[in-house]
Amino acid sequence: MLFNLSEEHLMIQKAARDFANDVLKPGVIERDEHQKFPAEEIKQMGALGFLGMMVSPKYGGGGMDCISYVLAMEEISKIDASASVVMSVNNSLVCWGLETFGTEEQKQKYLTRLATGEIIGAFCLSEPEAGSDATSQRTTAIDKGDYYLLNGTKNWITNGGTASVYLVIAQTDVSKGHRGINAFIVEKGMPGFVVGQKENKLGIRGSDTHSLMFTDVKVPKENRIGEDGFGFKFAMQTLTGGRIGIASQALGIASGAYELALAYSKQRKAFGKTINQHQIIQFKLADMATEIEAARLLCLKAAWLKDQHQDYTTASAMAKVFASELAMRTTVEAVQVHGGYGFVKEYHVERLMRDAKITQIYEGTSEVQRIVISRALLA
Ligand code: CAA
Repeated sequence: MLFNLSEEHLMIQKAARDFANDVLKPGVIERDEHQKFPAEEIKQMGALGFLGMMVSPKYGGGGMDCISYVLAMEEISKIDASASVVMSVNNSLVCWGLETFGTEEQKQKYLTRLATGEIIGAFCLSEPEAGSDATSQRTTAIDKGDYYLLNGTKNWITNGGTASVYLVIAQTDVSKGHRGINAFIVEKGMPGFVVGQKENKLGIRGSDTHSLMFTDVKVPKENRIGEDGFGFKFAMQTLTGGRIGIASQALGIASGAYELALAYSKQRKAFGKTINQHQIIQFKLADMATEIEAARLLCLKAAWLKDQHQDYTTASAMAKVFASELAMRTTVEAVQVHGGYGFVKEYHVERLMRDAKITQIYEGTSEVQRIVISRALLA
């Protein structure tokens, strides 16, 4: 068992760290404050290859492994979790879903532009009444011969306003349950497709979250992904990989908060010495570092299994539930180490604490991850 990262992995990690510090950090507080999407920064991420990391070079991607993706996600998330969720959705859900299950025509038409970041994508599963219970889709897509007629509403869609391409999950035959669900490629601008209001969120405020409305949208037959009825499994398999991305995001939020707390503890004096000389602070730092290392190993293990083409369903659920709960604990403690300074925006930790919460909710809540893990244990 080897624990060393390769030269290539270290280079990717450093490139992501440098980009995050040089490009993302300067405006991150302002973007959070004003809910400003990092449009220019995302363009640069595309140019550097961070938006299609695992896509084959044949389709404009970086051809990298999932371990590289985890390393880059951690570094970007330490600084700007709003930028990293764009990266995660584009890489893990949209690009991976299209590359793995799309037709050659779909890949040529959409994937080549998504992988380079020329355009970005969104993944549309959640609905007002179908979040965790993903089989209860109310959005319908009725087969009309050459096209499907799409009607319904999707909620909390990351990249909802900024995406050009949307992978939309909809019910085509309610009598077949989850086997009557399909996934479609929907383009912005298709008649009947309206982007709803932007959500005003607790965290990841720089990311662009919207509801989407579809009224009699004609989706060409060739835009269906996979065989008829494959949509639910498409969503589940895509989300299984997506959870490695969100676990790595949570890991990055936690390690970013820990690094800030460690640095602050070396400067701040109380009772005649720097606070890192007080055992109560030392123990907090020790606990944070230990748990972060455990989360990192879970993320890398899930990524390694994916790279080895082994089953990573349970591993990705374990990584996500552990890392997201750790992100909450660590960021709360990092604010505590900072005392009053931790409560103001300039010190970054309060933002990380707000950003951490969503990692327990999207791409499957902590409760859903426990369902996935316990089903595997009991099977
Ligand atoms: N891979 C492949 N197939 C899978 C699968 C997986 N990971 N999980 C389930 N399936 C298959 C099952 O084998 C079953 O197939 P058969 O009937 O042929 O055997 C079928 O799918 C139905 O499975 P279940 O009976 O297990 O389905 P369920 O209704 O009990 O739900 C669940 C299981 C795990 C709770 C699922 O509904 C789920 O994952 N829910 C959470 C959805 C989610 O993550 N939403 C996030 C929205 S996207 C997002 O957040 C993106 C963003 O913006 C950041």
